[in-house]
Parts: sequence; structure tokens; C-alpha cells
Amino acid sequence: MAIITLMSKLETLKMLQELYIYRSFGFTYYKKREIMPQKSNISIPNSLDELKKSVHGCFLCTLCKTRKNVVFGEGNPHAKLMFIGEGPGACEDAQGRPFVGNAGILLTKMIENVLNLKRNDVYIANIVKCRPPGNRVPIPEEANMCKPYIFKQIEIVSPQIIVALGGTSYHYLTGDDRGITKVRGEILEYKNAKLIPTFHPSYLLRNESCKKEAYHDLLKVKALL
Ligand code: URA
Repeated sequence: MAIITLMSKLETLKMLQELYIYRSFGFTYYKKREIMPQKSNISIPNSLDELKKSVHGCFLCTLCKTRKNVVFGEGNPHAKLMFIGEGPGACEDAQGRPFVGNAGILLTKMIENVLNLKRNDVYIANIVKCRPPGNRVPIPEEANMCKPYIFKQIEIVSPQIIVALGGTSYHYLTGDDRGITKVRGEILEYKNAKLIPTFHPSYLLRNESCKKEAYHDLLKVKALL
């Protein structure tokens, strides 16, 4: 359609004439449908409420087919501190809320017991908003489709400190391929905030001995707040 509007009437007639000729030879054609809108056509709202509505109606990647609920993120819309995980697990998918399973219980303890904050004081979100089946790591196509949403959440909430939970979150936020054991505890300049990568709470549940390092990372966060 767009192509035809750009063409002069004469060109259109010539093209139709050719199509008629092909059809008389027995060719058929189908109308190509645009399933994936071009990036430039997607407008991203500038308020959390509007953004949430957009994300709830998102069908940009195949995770929309298997999700029960979109997990947009939650917390203080003016939080100084933002935690960014990888993507929802089964509990999060069921409830439509981030970090509400076992990893979430640990994250909440870290917020309350180490940072002396309430969970409601901070903002919690994920790189991808829909659960990857079987809790697999989100693939680049999924993360890249979803990234404009987390970038907009960061822009709107405008935190002073962002904690990337785990290597996947850190990698998709920064593009840096270094593993989490290399980068954890570093204080990096990121957008208008400090970014501190640390271990993912799920990893800490499986590797208790790393809790000590995560504790030290959180002390750095506390000192910066
Ligand atoms: N793991 C994540 O990365 N995010 C959640 O919301 C839950 C578990």
C-alpha cells in the first residue's frame, strides 16, 4: 500500500498491467502482512501508567504466546534505588508481579535487612516482562524487543542507583560480555545513575557462599544512598 502511494499513477498502471499479464500465465500472489512492526513505528509513552498499558498489550516477541501475565515492575515511582532482574519466573508469571517467588523473598530480605529499606521504597523490574518458558535465559531477540521498556522505566523513575541482578541483566543493560563474577561490586556510570552489578538472588540460593560478596555489594549501595 505504502509503495503504491509513493508511485505515480502511470507507474501504478504499468505495474498492474504487468500483474495482469502474470496472472494470465497462471501466477497467483498473496498480500504480505507486517507481523513485526518496525521499531520506529513504536511510540513509547512517557508515564509509568501509560507505559504499563502498552506493555500489557505487547505482542512483539513470542514470549507473549506463553505468558500468563505481563510482569511490568512495581515500587516507588520516584525511587532512588532500582533493582533490575532478568525476567519473570513461574510465581511472577502467575501473579503479574516481579520477584515474588523464592528469589523474591531473598531480595526482599536483602532490601530490608541490609539496606534498612522497605520493598515499597525501591523500584523492581526485569529486562523481559514475560516469562521465558522453563525459566530459560531470555534470548537476544526477546531482550532487544523488550529493552525499550526497561530503558523508559529507568528514564521515568530516574534512580540514583541501579542494581543489576545477575549477569544476564547486566549484559542486556550494558552490552558488556564480562561475567558477573568479574564485574560484581563495580560502581559504574550508567545513564544518569550509578550501576552496581551483583549476583542474582536465585544464584545466591544455589550458592550460599556467594552471599558474603553480595552483602558487600549492597553495603556499597547503602553507602551511596
Ligand atoms: N528472577 C528474575 O530475574 N526476575 C523475577 O522477577 C523473578 C526471578
